[in-house]
Amino acid sequence: MLSFTKTFEFSASHTLLNPDWDLEQNLARFGKCANPGGHGHNYILEVTVTGRLDPQTAMLIEACELQKLVDREIIEHLDHRNLNTDVAWLEGKIPTTEVLVLEIASRLATPIKIKAPNCSLRKVTLWETRKIFATWEAD
Ligand code: NI
Repeated sequence: MLSFTKTFEFSASHTLLNPDWDLEQNLARFGKCANPGGHGHNYILEVTVTGRLDPQTAMLIEACELQKLVDREIIEHLDHRNLNTDVAWLEGKIPTTEVLVLEIASRLATPIKIKAPNCSLRKVTLWETRKIFATWEAD
């Protein structure tokens, strides 16, 4: 299977809080990630598409088109934002790496299909730190 991956970066802050719990419970479950002042990460996002080569470009998707699309759908919404309060599509969600990768994949699948009908979203990986990442993969 042929695939193509492009990497993106954004910086954002978050706090891991379950609104159904008090602060003590949140700190017990999430540790320092629940500190009320929040904390920041320099996230690395990997977006992978698969499909058939476009015979005119010999590419799955033009890298600059994927860049524009991910900037518009994801990076402009998340970069230098508070993920708990600033992003409409994360409202009411606990912004863990797993939640972020699911939401990002769901926002990218259709625009990629529209931009490059020959290919589709195969995989999204989001690195929160050098030691933690979450991955969504198409079935
Ligand atoms: Ni964190």
